[in-house]
Amino acid sequence: MRTINVCLSPELTHLYDLSDKTVVVVDILRATSCMTTAFAHGIAAIRPVANLEECRELKVQGYITSGERNGEKVEGFDKGNSPFEYMGGEMKGNKIAFTTTNGTQAIEKSKSARELLIGSFLNLSAVVNHLKASSNSAIILCAGWKGRVNLEDTLFAGAVIDALKSNFETPDDAELIALQLYQHTKDNMIEFLGQSSHVKRLNRLKIHKDIAFCLTPDQYDVLPRLVGGELITK
Ligand code: MLT
Repeated sequence: MRTINVCLSPELTHLYDLSDKTVVVVDILRATSCMTTAFAHGIAAIRPVANLEECRELKVQGYITSGERNGEKVEGFDKGNSPFEYMGGEMKGNKIAFTTTNGTQAIEKSKSARELLIGSFLNLSAVVNHLKASSNSAIILCAGWKGRVNLEDTLFAGAVIDALKSNFETPDDAELIALQLYQHTKDNMIEFLGQSSHVKRLNRLKIHKDIAFCLTPDQYDVLPRLVGGELITK
């Protein structure tokens, strides 16, 4: 039977063989929610990059520069990391160079995967349906915060495990942690996440409306995947 693992931090990726797996990278607040939203509104491709300089250099090649550091928009960049900045449709057909504190670092660390997908609550069913139909074993890679575990990515991993537990074996305790957390909090996720470090950080930055939106399941039927260094949906 196929297996599904939850990797609770990018610092733990060395414990897994990614080369024969589908890896779903998740940064609920907010990088992968933002990427999902951008594709749902017509962005052609996203080039995830680890550092600010590389992102700035891509501007010369026509890329829109997007992202954040520590939750705040980077000075001189075209866009920040709020899903609401990507809903207007004015960037339709364009390419984005994207760099974030944790999400794009997690993508960087999982480039050896057989298949790399972007997951968020916003495209939860698209992720689940794809994993169900695939013959690959899977890893849900939680981006966390600077190597540390966080609640919101673990919750998403739990939602995926909950949907797939009869299709996959779940070998380790991380899957149980995620599943139990999700099952106990799914009906009051927003209140529960009020305690989380990143929700407190976003609240301090007066970023409020992104939180509830990023926790809303199935807003979009898109599934970004990495092909040749760029995320695409086609
Ligand atoms: C990240 O990649 O670290 C996050 O998306 C931070 C944020 O909320 O902007």
